[in-house]
Amino acid sequence: MLKKETNFRTIIEPFIIKSIEPIKITSKEDRKSIIERANYNLFKIQAQDVLIDLLTDSGTGAMSSEQWAAIMRGDESYAGSQSFQRFEKSVKDIFGFKHVIPTHQGRAAERILFSVMCKKDSIVPNNTHFDTTRANVEYQGAQALDLLIEEGKDPKNLFPFKGNMDVKKLQTLIEEQGAENIPLCMITITNNSGGGQPVSMENVRQVKKVLSEHNIPLYFDAARFAENAYFIKEREVGYKDKSIKSIVREMMSYGDGCTMSAKKDGLVNIGGFLCTNDDITAQKQKDLLILTEGFPSYGGLAGRDLDAIAVGLQEVLDESYLHYRISETRYLGEHLTQIGYPILLPPGGHAVYIDAKALLPQIEPLAYPGQSLSVELYKIGGIRTVEIGSVMFGKIDPKTGKETPSDMELVRLALPRRTHTQSHIDYVIEVMREIFTSKNKLGGYKIIKQPPFLRHFTADFEPIK
Ligand SMILES: Cc1ncc(COP(=O)(O)O)c(C=O)c1O
Repeated sequence: MLKKETNFRTIIEPFIIKSIEPIKITSKEDRKSIIERANYNLFKIQAQDVLIDLLTDSGTGAMSSEQWAAIMRGDESYAGSQSFQRFEKSVKDIFGFKHVIPTHQGRAAERILFSVMCKKDSIVPNNTHFDTTRANVEYQGAQALDLLIEEGKDPKNLFPFKGNMDVKKLQTLIEEQGAENIPLCMITITNNSGGGQPVSMENVRQVKKVLSEHNIPLYFDAARFAENAYFIKEREVGYKDKSIKSIVREMMSYGDGCTMSAKKDGLVNIGGFLCTNDDITAQKQKDLLILTEGFPSYGGLAGRDLDAIAVGLQEVLDESYLHYRISETRYLGEHLTQIGYPILLPPGGHAVYIDAKALLPQIEPLAYPGQSLSVELYKIGGIRTVEIGSVMFGKIDPKTGKETPSDMELVRLALPRRTHTQSHIDYVIEVMREIFTSKNKLGGYKIIKQPPFLRHFTADFEPIK
């Protein structure tokens, strides 16, 4: 097979820019007053006041000219549209499942899947549930259990597949709880909540073997399926010469279905889907879909959205794209490590996670070191990131009002797909170099106003004097 390389070390974006969106250049003075007015909450800043937005990689990427062309072909018929036919064909071609059900995004697919498969007190194992996945399992009165391998919990461990599921723990769980209480098992590729770390094919095979012995179906949370396949090609013995598509097909062949947020590796701004091989399950899922999402040939999306996904799913398999994508994240991670930042190693597929607790030991976890670093990144460089620590996951005892910090205090720099150039990333590195030199002067924050749940979105903060 032809190797798609330029023979030079510089990683270039494998595309040119055809349409641009200007970013407003603000000064440090501007940003100091903007963040103060937003009560030091980055979710409350207007997008036009952000220079480099690394808040999330979900739905924030750029579409290709082919996708925009596909959008113009969108067939908006209510039932049986050509857009649906193209979408279904593309999904089946890559994933190989029998039934394909469109949804408006990943969490809608999750809600339908767990509504149909779980009942109260069911147990759903996963390597690590993403927040919406966990919430949708728990909403059914079921238990969402994370069975990540120990290596995946150690930020410094360089194990190549830190997203793997602990197969022994899975076996013990089935023996102790009984297969009848485990309606399905999930594997999240790549493991977002564990730092975007990949899962190996060997691990999937072993998980499938255990599940098959007990007739438990395996579903993938496939949001970053192509990034995961690229890591397998790079790191797993026997896959170097395989195409990304054949790696994805092999992985999916061990599954009984999947949920998908097309906002990631579907390379679109909105959309998702649910797949299954089981006819009876599919019928139940479609019945539920009609109740809240829409008819099974559009599922809450416009025909043009389905067409954009159909094209995006094929484009994401391009090795030049994946090489650039993974290298961009790695480049950022390696440079931050060189500066001295403690990060989750090795850098994952879609984001770099900084350990703010290790970086800012002068700030107590309940004075939110991650928030402090995020605010500083905005003030100094106009870069928006997200705190994934005690602001997001700290637990307050309703009786005593006492707060327990999260296990980790992280700041995530998520890279939108095909959106930023190498110089944008170099700019982020330069800003972070400056912050590193004065990190000892950074102070903590206190929350002065917060809602009863999901406080990170709307809480107001104040610097601790
Ligand atoms: C692994 C994973 N699963 C599911 C979801 C939910 O998808 P959506 O945001 O499209 O509802 C996300 C979103 O970030 C995710 O990262």
